Amino acid sequence: MSFEIPKNDKLLKWVEQVAAMCEPEKIHWCDGSQQEYDEMCAQLIKSGTFRKLNQEKRPNSYLAFSDPIDVARVEDRTFICSISKNDAGPTNNWMPPKEMKDKLKNLFKGCMQGRTMYVIPFSMGPLGSPIAKIGVEISDSPYVVVNMRIMTRMGKAVLDILGDGDFIPCLHSIGAPLKPGEQDVPWPCNKEKYIVHFPEERSIWSFGSGYGGNALLGKKCLALRIASKIGYDEGWLAEHMLILGVESPQGEKSYVGAAFPSACGKTNFAMLIPPQGFTDKGWKVTTIGDDIAWIKPGPDGRLYAINPEYGYFGVAPGTSVMTNPNAMASCAANTIFTNVALTEDDDVWWEGMTDEPPAKLTDWQGDAWTPGCGRPAAHPNARFTSPASQCPSIDPDWENPKGVPLSAMIFGGRRKDTIPLVYQAFNWNFGVYLAATLGSETTAAAVGATGNVRRDPFAMLPFCGYHMADYFGHWLQVGRSVPKPPRIFSVNWFLKDDDGKFLWPGYGENMRVLKWIVERLQGRTGAVESPLGWMPRYEDMDWDGLPVTREKFNALTSVDREAWQTEVLSHEELFLKMFDKLPKELLRMRELIISSLWRSPEHWEQIGDVHPEGWNE
Ligand code: GTP
Ligand code: SPV
Ligand code: MN
Repeated sequence: MSFEIPKNDKLLKWVEQVAAMCEPEKIHWCDGSQQEYDEMCAQLIKSGTFRKLNQEKRPNSYLAFSDPIDVARVEDRTFICSISKNDAGPTNNWMPPKEMKDKLKNLFKGCMQGRTMYVIPFSMGPLGSPIAKIGVEISDSPYVVVNMRIMTRMGKAVLDILGDGDFIPCLHSIGAPLKPGEQDVPWPCNKEKYIVHFPEERSIWSFGSGYGGNALLGKKCLALRIASKIGYDEGWLAEHMLILGVESPQGEKSYVGAAFPSACGKTNFAMLIPPQGFTDKGWKVTTIGDDIAWIKPGPDGRLYAINPEYGYFGVAPGTSVMTNPNAMASCAANTIFTNVALTEDDDVWWEGMTDEPPAKLTDWQGDAWTPGCGRPAAHPNARFTSPASQCPSIDPDWENPKGVPLSAMIFGGRRKDTIPLVYQAFNWNFGVYLAATLGSETTAAAVGATGNVRRDPFAMLPFCGYHMADYFGHWLQVGRSVPKPPRIFSVNWFLKDDDGKFLWPGYGENMRVLKWIVERLQGRTGAVESPLGWMPRYEDMDWDGLPVTREKFNALTSVDREAWQTEVLSHEELFLKMFDKLPKELLRMRELIISSLWRSPEHWEQIGDVHPEGWNE
């Protein structure tokens, strides 16, 4: 033991019970020190899980290849085991808690044989801050330990703050006991997986996976699924949102939260570098967080947001010095890469990192790879785990326990058609409607078919720890009780033309949309009323350095009535699923949107508004 174990009866008893059930060979209490981290990385190299990367090119960094059966979140194996089924709602998998516990106890029996059981105390949110939540993860995966040290504030300092206080128990096993003398594999896991939440008990049990949100239990399990339920009970919000700061040339700083589904551009938007012309004029974007926001009402009637995380678990493919230089700088050192490809000089590569792929690579499955071989070199959900402090655009207030006041909240998914580039909801309730009906093509971040449009309300479909309709009601209630709520916007970077090419250049150019948004908040730019909400006219946006024609702008901002007919029917399908608890406001909103969609385009001209010319009949 590297330090004295604290006198916390609940913790000691739990560790003892888990050890008796899982039968590990050893117990290791993590102190979170650099020395412990280095020793565990050395051990992971020995066991074949890690390769050390080139010390000159990628200092203190490692690469892991996972088992191909363990590459992403497993939504069909994720459960919310509330006492009542109707508290989990129609969008979550559910089983009676007792039945699930019995099942899990069977699986966990002896599951850590031949392995070390690590006790990982961690804090979501700045150490000692009144809004931080302390969790303790028990895991038999050293890979989880080293990742948790980057993703959370972890170790002895957390136990000191915990004292004899309460914590959220997070039990994790890869589910791969070792018989005496049995040779370990580089990525032990189990084909049977369970990611289980007990919202009333506020505990988490995860079995069978060592990957990402399945295993780093502070992230999706605690900071979203359990925290969303705590927020519902206590009057605050836990959201799948990035948080960024925008500084205008006038020196005004606005903070913005944005919810996009998994692998839909949060990390990129959070670290946005404005185009040259904007930077020259004095526009600046700073990063608070890239995945999770805890949002609470402040004493001044505004909503304040903190990032409970300490690192990034970012999507590698598509990240480059062109698309996201800040992310590239964040993972330049002290980083754990998972499922990216290995270069001949022991550096990393992934699709989209450079235009020209290297001539020879080792792919994420450990096989020789050459360009044109027909397989991706990196898994589409390959990730980097990097300290947030390494991000060049990190905001000076990113660890401020008070959080930052949100002026706007943005929602967006991957939609090749139907959803225009940007619009502002007429008011809070319209905003809740647009967020509740958010749709997006599925991505490689979750196991299953990708590319189908599905409803992903608030980008929280896989992360809401209670009934989704109660969650909608909670959001409506926040709008009633918070005097100065943020304005709500919808964006879509992913519109495509008839040839399947992106209509919008995206990445840094998203600054143009962000600028329109913050200038709207400050009353510095115009907008017109569209059927969906307030939209920029061509002349309301800054095109300096990017020649977008009116024609292209119209294609980006048109509202196609026929497509919207299909769209509202799909909203209705979502609402029907949860009709017994659905707030009636949302049905009224739907009627209002339908009625405004059916007003003739000429009407807008008659009332004197100039509207984007592209609105179709
Ligand atoms: P999670 O970590 O899974 O919650 O996702 P995230 O929202 O942080 O995803 P991320 O920002 O890492 O998105 C990754 C994918 O989106 C990559 O393939 C990027 O190339 C792509 N992407 C990000 N921003 C843009 C954009 O503005 N336009 C386009 N077309 N693609 C983008
Ligand atoms: C997501 O899928 O939204 C992620 C990655 O942020 S994971 O932590 O694996 O859930
Ligand atoms: Mn995420």
